[in-house]
Amino acid sequence: MIKLVYVGVLACWLGLWSSFSALAQQATFYQTIQPLIHAKCAVCHRPGEASPFSLITYDDVAKRATFIKKVVSTGYMPPWRADDHYTAFANKRSLTPEQISVITSWIDAGLPKGKVRKEAEEALMTRVNAGTAHNRPPDLTLKLDKPFRQSGDGVERFMVFKLPFELASTANVAALEFTSSNKKVIHHANFAIHPVEDTTISLTNTIAQVDLNGADAWHYQEWMPYKKQMTYYGGWIPGSSVETYPEDMGWVLPKRGVVLLTVHLGPAGKDEDVIAGVNFFFKKTPIKRTVNVISLGSGGIAEKNISPPLLLFGGEVKTCSLQVAYRNQPITLLYAWPHMHQVGKEFTAFATLPNADTLKLVHIPDWDFRWQELYRYQKPVILPTGSVVNVIGTYDNTDANPMNPNKPAKLITSDGKMRSDQEMMTLILIYTTYQTGDENLRLD
Ligand code: HEC
Repeated sequence: MIKLVYVGVLACWLGLWSSFSALAQQATFYQTIQPLIHAKCAVCHRPGEASPFSLITYDDVAKRATFIKKVVSTGYMPPWRADDHYTAFANKRSLTPEQISVITSWIDAGLPKGKVRKEAEEALMTRVNAGTAHNRPPDLTLKLDKPFRQSGDGVERFMVFKLPFELASTANVAALEFTSSNKKVIHHANFAIHPVEDTTISLTNTIAQVDLNGADAWHYQEWMPYKKQMTYYGGWIPGSSVETYPEDMGWVLPKRGVVLLTVHLGPAGKDEDVIAGVNFFFKKTPIKRTVNVISLGSGGIAEKNISPPLLLFGGEVKTCSLQVAYRNQPITLLYAWPHMHQVGKEFTAFATLPNADTLKLVHIPDWDFRWQELYRYQKPVILPTGSVVNVIGTYDNTDANPMNPNKPAKLITSDGKMRSDQEMMTLILIYTTYQTGDENLRLD
C-alpha cells in the first residue's frame, strides 16, 4: 500500500520533471531568452547605461549564466521596488515566476542557442548608437557640444548646462528622454524647457554651464530672463524609461528657447567625460490634450508643509507627511515619480477624495535610492476636484541602515541644496485634464 503511494508520487514527480525539461528544451536563446533579456535587463545592461556589463548577445548572457540564475532567482534583478498590489504599473519590470523558471531551466539545460537570429541585437545596437532606449531614433537631440569632464577628485557636482534651440517651427512632443554618453557617474538629471519668444534676448551670449556649488555659481543669474516661463520639465534616474504619451496627448515644444539641464554627478575615482542631453520624439498628429507635470514636496509645491519638518537627527527613525489639497478641475494621472534619498525607507502616496474614499497612487515598501522609476499607470488614476494628496515618507537615519551615507549617523538636513547626503520627499505627477472616458484608457 505504502509502496503504491510512493510509486504514484514518483510517477507524478517524473511527469512534472519531464514537462519541466520539455519546457527547458523548448527554450532556446534566440527564440525565448533573448527577447526576455532585452525587455527586462538590457534597458540597463547596455553600453552607456548605469550597469557594469551588457546583456545583449548570446555570449554576454552565457558568460554570466550562473550569476544570472542567482540574481533572477533571488529577485535581486531586475530591480523593481513598487508594490504591485497597491497600484498596477504599465512599465512593470519584474519577472513573473514563469519567466524566472524559463530562464533558470534554460541555464540548467546547458544554454541551448537555437537558430541564430541577429536582428534583435542589431536593432538594439542601432538604438544604443543613436543614444536612445526608445523604439526609434530621436527627431531632435539637444546636447553639450563638448564633453564635460567630471574630475576623478571624489567630489560630487551639480552642473547646470544651457542647451539653446531655435527650430523652424514648433513641434508636437510624443516622447522624451535624457541621454548621456556616460551614465555611470550620473546620480540623476533633470531638465526644464523654457520658451524664449523675445528675440532681443540672446540664447548664446550667456554662460554655457554653471557648477551650482562652485565659485561661478552666481553666473546662474544670467539665465533669469529665460526662466520667466517653463513649458515642461523632466528627469532621469538610473534605469528610468522613456517618457511617452498616448496618441492625442503630449505638449508643444516652442520654436525658440533653452533647456536648462541639471546633472548631479557622483564622486568619481578617475576622470569621466560626459556628453549629456535630451532626446525629443515628435509626432505629426495634433496634440488635443496637453500633458503637464507638478512636483509636490521638497523642491516643489508645499515644501514648507512637510510635517514634521524633514530634519533627521542621527539615530532617528522618522515618518514625515504632506497633504496638498487639489482644488482645480479633475485631472487624469499618467505617471507618478516618488523621490527620496539614501536614508528613505518607505514611500506611500494616496489621495483622499471628497467622499472620503481613498485612491492609491504609489507605494514603495522598501525604498532603495539606487532603484527609482518614473512609474506609468496601467490605467490612469483620476483625481477629482477637492481631493487631498497625501505623501508619507519614512526615514531611517540609524547606524543599522546600511544605506546611511554617514558613519556614524548624524544630522541630515533638507535645506534645498538637494545633495545626495541630504534628504528629500517629493512626488512628481504627470497628468492631463480629465475627459469622460479616461477611466477606460490603458497606458500599456
Ligand atoms: C534598472 C536597471 C537594471 C535592470 C533593469 C537590470 N539590472 Fe542588473 N544590474 C544593474 C546595475 C546598476 C548593476 C550593478 C550594481 C549592483 O550589482 O547592484 C547590476 C548588476 C547585475 C548583476 C551582477 C550582480 C552582482 O552582484 O554583481 C547581474 C548578474 C545582473 N545585474 C543581471 C541582470 C539581469 C539578468 C537582469 C534582467 C532580468 C537585470 N540585471 C536587470 C542594473 C539593472
